[in-house]
Amino acid sequence: MAIVAPSLLASNFLQLEAECKMLNESEADWFHLDVMDGRFVPNISFGLPFIEQLRKATTKPFDVHLMIEEPEKYAEAFKKAGADQLTVHYEACRHLHRNVQQIKSLDMKAGVAINPHTPVSLLADILCDVDLILIMSVDPGFGGQQFIPHTYQKIRELKKLIHDCGLNVHIEIDGGVTLDNASAIIHAGANVLVAGNTVFGSPDPKKVISQLKKAQ
Ligand code: DX5
Ligand code: ZN
Repeated sequence: MAIVAPSLLASNFLQLEAECKMLNESEADWFHLDVMDGRFVPNISFGLPFIEQLRKATTKPFDVHLMIEEPEKYAEAFKKAGADQLTVHYEACRHLHRNVQQIKSLDMKAGVAINPHTPVSLLADILCDVDLILIMSVDPGFGGQQFIPHTYQKIRELKKLIHDCGLNVHIEIDGGVTLDNASAIIHAGANVLVAGNTVFGSPDPKKVISQLKKAQ
C-alpha cells in the first residue's frame, strides 16, 4: 500500500479543524506541510506557529517539507513545533551532510528533496544517511501544477540506486499527483504520494485518499 501524505497547502484554512478531523478519520498516513520562505521559492506559505497549532489536532506524523534557505537555522524550532520528519532541499544546503545529521540528532526522520532539474545521481553519497528522498515533480512553490513526465525516469533511477546500495529509503513524489498518474508513479518505484489539490479539491477527499493508497 502506498503511503499517502495530503498537502495541507491546498486545504481550506478557514476550516482547518474540520480538515484535520477529515484527515484523522481518513486513511492518510502523514500530514504534508509545505513551508515556503519567499527566497528559495517565489512564494510564502505558513510557518512555525501554524504547525504548532495544527499539532494539537492530530497524532499522525508531520512530514514537513522546507522550501527555505538556510534550513539549519530552523531545524530545532520545527522539531519543537511538532515536526516528525524534516525534509530539506539539496539546492538549499551547502553542507547537506551536516544538515541531515542535525535533523537526526534532533530525533526526527531526515529527508532530502530535489528540484526537477537536479539529477538523482547527486544523491549517491547522502543516500545512506537519510530516511526519505522527495522528488519534486513540479517546480516548487505552488500547488495545482502539472506533473512533469520526466519524473518517472528519475524515480526508476533512484529506486535502482537505493536497491544497489541495499538501503531502505522512502521515495516520495510531490507535485501534480492525481488519481490518473498515481499508479504509474508507484509502478515506477515510489512509495509515498503527496497530494494537495487532488485530495482537497475533491468533493469526497476520504475516498480519494483511499484510492491513492490502493494505487499500484
Ligand atoms: C509545491 C509543494 C507541494 C504542493 C502539492 O511546492 O511542495 O507539496 O502542495 O500540491 P499539488 O498536489 O496540488 O500539486
Ligand atoms: Zn511539498
